[in-house]
Amino acid sequence: MRTIDWRDDRIVAIDQTRLPHEVEFLEIDTVEDLIAAIRSLAIRGAPAIGVAGALGVALAARRHPDPTELRQAVDALRGARPTAVNLAWGVDRVRARLDAEGAEAALAEALTVLAEDIRCCRELSERGARWLVDTVGPQVAVQTHCNAGALATVEWGTALGVVRSLQEHGALTHVYASETRPLLQGARLTVWELAQMGAAHTLVVDSAAASVLAQGRVDAVVVGADRITANGDVINKVGTYPLALAAARAGVPMVVAAPESTVDLATPSGRDVHIEVRDPEEITALGAVALAPKGTGTLNYAFDVTPADLVTAIVTERRVILPAAGGRPDDPIGRS
Ligand code: MRU
Repeated sequence: MRTIDWRDDRIVAIDQTRLPHEVEFLEIDTVEDLIAAIRSLAIRGAPAIGVAGALGVALAARRHPDPTELRQAVDALRGARPTAVNLAWGVDRVRARLDAEGAEAALAEALTVLAEDIRCCRELSERGARWLVDTVGPQVAVQTHCNAGALATVEWGTALGVVRSLQEHGALTHVYASETRPLLQGARLTVWELAQMGAAHTLVVDSAAASVLAQGRVDAVVVGADRITANGDVINKVGTYPLALAAARAGVPMVVAAPESTVDLATPSGRDVHIEVRDPEEITALGAVALAPKGTGTLNYAFDVTPADLVTAIVTERRVILPAAGGRPDDPIGRS
């Protein structure tokens, strides 16, 4: 089952707002609907929205014969969410092909982006699993955060892809998943995927994660990323930075699994990244139920920045970078 795909001249995607209770698919016919799906997190996760951006340009080329309308639609799509670099990357890659060769070539490029996501996730997951077994031992208990699984990609996952590969090799003992306030991607999505995989797992509230690490229950923290800057800073779901601090204190490796399309060499450091701030209602209410007094001010950051010196390893389909040991994504030789 693919999280996102191209079928019958339109985009088909799992509606992640309905999980874990219902598995429903959206059939997306217009760029406006695609933007709405990305903003509402019906389609979410950096690699998946990269693929959505790529397919969206192909869709725009088919729906907007007028060049001005087409440009406006593509620009709006590119800006649908600001933090994950994959969205702009997917849009730019297919737009270049559209400009040079037209709509059919754009669709071919978008389908290549989709196929590459599947391949890259498999490769980085294998590499990550091997690195973990070599580094922490033959049996690995993992702590993860947010959802970096099949649902955040086309079909395999990044951080949860590493978990899948560990499981395939008989090297996975347990997964601790943090619920991931405020939209609960961990509780709703990661736990759902882990149950489907048949992996032993336990859900913890975000604020318990440091204690779980301190108790020695975990051999490695493995998370995904929405953007990795040239110096090795990692931008990921809010709550990742405190997890990295706790991992450092507990002496547990902090591992980031992401495709090269998440590596943004044009941005020097995490300080230069636009961190998405989302609506107050996401934290002042739980669905229709109000939690905080009316009018409460909020600062609802969707992501945070984990400084490079707290990141033990970044694993991609091409390499292992060791930022805490001085490795940098923009180092052409790389350290692994
Ligand atoms: O706001 P989201 O759910 O789109 O956030 C992105 C994420 O799922 C995570 O931060 C993830 O770890 C990176 S994407 C594999």
